[in-house]
Amino acid sequence: MKRLIVANWKMNPPNKKTAKKIFDSAQKNACGLKNIEVVVCPPFVYLGVLSLSASGGFRAKSHSAFGAQDVFWDEKKTSYTGEISATMLKNLGVKYVIIGHSERREHLGEDNLIINKKVKYALSAGLKVVFCVGEKERDDDGQYLNFIKTEMLEGLFSVPAKLANNLIVAYEPIWAIGKSGKNADSPEKVFEISIYIKRILADIFGRPRGDQIPILYGGSVDIENTEGFLSEGRISGLLIGHKSLETESFKEILKIANNIRK
Ligand code: 13P
Repeated sequence: MKRLIVANWKMNPPNKKTAKKIFDSAQKNACGLKNIEVVVCPPFVYLGVLSLSASGGFRAKSHSAFGAQDVFWDEKKTSYTGEISATMLKNLGVKYVIIGHSERREHLGEDNLIINKKVKYALSAGLKVVFCVGEKERDDDGQYLNFIKTEMLEGLFSVPAKLANNLIVAYEPIWAIGKSGKNADSPEKVFEISIYIKRILADIFGRPRGDQIPILYGGSVDIENTEGFLSEGRISGLLIGHKSLETESFKEILKIANNIRK
């Protein structure tokens, strides 16, 4: 499987012109990299503009796709001021959606129940879901593992197994987000936690289905630590925040990810 590199732009950049510049660079730099798939997740306001941009969105050979940073959980009725449906996203050519990001959990009151509704709706609508989990802090007693487990059991509650092939889990320890690369988690620990996550997925969805769900790492990914996570950490990809907005750094990260041995 191709490694998945997901660029989460969060609430950046402040204008359309810069968004276009960052996107054009990502598109150009992803072109021809056969071993990775690049997913760019801009704010909603830029998705339309970028998907219609000069080359008609991503170039056919770039192995790239658009993702959204959120989606609403229902569209049976449309009276939801400010919300965006999966159908709207799909009609723009969006393939992926990030659900359960810690920033939405913390600042927008999204709990496991809301996240579960969003995951079920987005999967049933045919979007690929990047479902985020991760602890606030890591204690010596291993309570953080229970925290991750609860996020997974409640967030994925009653998701039909047949939809699991469109599910991706992103492990993002909150304490490692938005810092310099030195504060990121270690590849060894990420490997260990990815095994733990895989076991929970196998319990939920059975084998081999659960084992096949890709696990990404996110939290202060940069040029220096990319290789470690993908080789020693043996994960399926990365969810990248601020470095995905720095065009030169992102270009290097894509190159490193593409060149990593299996
Ligand atoms: P940073 O890469 O800026 O730490 O952000 C990680 C993240 O939250 C991606 O979703």
